[in-house]
Amino acid sequence: MTESPLPATKKLFIKTYGCQMNVYDSDRMADALAPHGYEPVQAMEDADLVVLNTCHIREKASEKVFSEIGRLREMRDERRLNGGDLMIGVAGCVAQAEGDEIVRRAPAVNLVFGPQSYHRLPELLARAHNGARVVDTDFPAEDKFAHLPAAKREVTRSRGLTAFLTVQEGCDKFCSFCVVPYTRGAETSRPVEQVLREAEQLAEAGVRELTLLGQNVNAYHGLDSRGRTVGLGELCYRLSLIPGIARIRYTTSHPLDMTDELIEMHRDLDALMPYLHLPVQSGSDRILKAMNRRHTAAEYLAVIDRIKAARPDMALSGDFIVGFPGETDEDFEATMEIVKAVGYASAFTFKYSIRPGTPGATMDNQVDDAVKAERLQRLNELITAQMRDFLRSTVGRTLPVLIEKPGRNPGQVGGRSPYLQAVHMDGPERLIGQIVPVTIVSAGNNSLAGKIVTDAERNPDSLIESQATVSHA
Ligand code: 5AD
Ligand code: SF4
Repeated sequence: MTESPLPATKKLFIKTYGCQMNVYDSDRMADALAPHGYEPVQAMEDADLVVLNTCHIREKASEKVFSEIGRLREMRDERRLNGGDLMIGVAGCVAQAEGDEIVRRAPAVNLVFGPQSYHRLPELLARAHNGARVVDTDFPAEDKFAHLPAAKREVTRSRGLTAFLTVQEGCDKFCSFCVVPYTRGAETSRPVEQVLREAEQLAEAGVRELTLLGQNVNAYHGLDSRGRTVGLGELCYRLSLIPGIARIRYTTSHPLDMTDELIEMHRDLDALMPYLHLPVQSGSDRILKAMNRRHTAAEYLAVIDRIKAARPDMALSGDFIVGFPGETDEDFEATMEIVKAVGYASAFTFKYSIRPGTPGATMDNQVDDAVKAERLQRLNELITAQMRDFLRSTVGRTLPVLIEKPGRNPGQVGGRSPYLQAVHMDGPERLIGQIVPVTIVSAGNNSLAGKIVTDAERNPDSLIESQATVSHA
């Protein structure tokens, strides 16, 4: 490894596309570059190094990358006229999947590196500074997390009250539409102690809510210091014991990995928030089979029943794909039916997008785009109505709200309910970082308005979650 080979005070801008794991990865890249003299800046125009942290999940996401590279090349050419320069890096899943294509199509790009190479970034950058065009899309045997500096960004910037923490990466499920197993590689879990140490540092920096990340996060099976395999439920419990950590969420989960241990944790652990992103993708058994989801609609609903039995107020979120190859009107109606049966608090909907290299790409019976668009619209209408119903259903309830930031107007603050709903209310900024009981008074389209319950109104068993506790252990 090269020790600080670069001139000091270079300016770094990372543009992040796609999922929350990319957001986390971008922060870690910034952490890895900080000791090498790279300081993050707010505007791309001010940067000496621009890294595009890309997403490959759907076609549109990858197309955006090539147009952004075009804009960056123009910016670089203009600077060169004035004796300046710009380094351009492409990271993330497009880099992983199309590294060679980027090198061929976009000569302006100095370095291309996949998600498993972030710990090598300073070294790759030093090589690029020496004039090489660097491509690193290998899946190395070493543990990148062990080589990345620990997340302690509070030294340089304030991190906020909520933080992402990657605990698991990659996927072995091979759903037939999905590129993730190819771009993020095989499923791996970070060791328990490594996760706990990072969480402790985040808590010391003031973080109160952790969102554990993984493409298949509920398949987490990390080793503890005694060599025992620990599941996600136990990991959440151990994280909840860290002073300051009051709330834990995790995403994204696969229905087949909702173990009894994890579901029981939702019953027993107050810190585990009652909001679960559990994608089903389709309500048709025929399509689920073609998607290689390895479960039926009824099996998914049975998982939801088990979850609701443990935690009756669990809010559910999902992902849906319309227009998977071979999807008939009848199959689509089955998707509408499963949405009605579950009643989602939130959901993400997508038109099927061909991803080269996945089995779905070569399937017969690709669905017409106009049909996809029409189905998407109907599904969105249903889901939007459900999201509003869910928001309205909390009106009148008193919920513990983590106060996260100043509100839209002076004298107001904003926060989140346990169900991940944005809540606005009157209140002093000194409450930021606290969890306070708030009575929900009205619901808008995307957020709630609330009123903080005053000390005088609170009874001794009020809803304040000062510390995560196990209530029925
Ligand atoms: N086309 C459309 N949507 C997709 N997703 C993944 N791959 C595709 C694709 N090829 C969606 C799935 C997944 C979410 C992250 O993105 O719904 O859960
Ligand atoms: Fe992709 Fe999720 Fe299926 Fe894995 S489980 S292949 S990440 S959709």
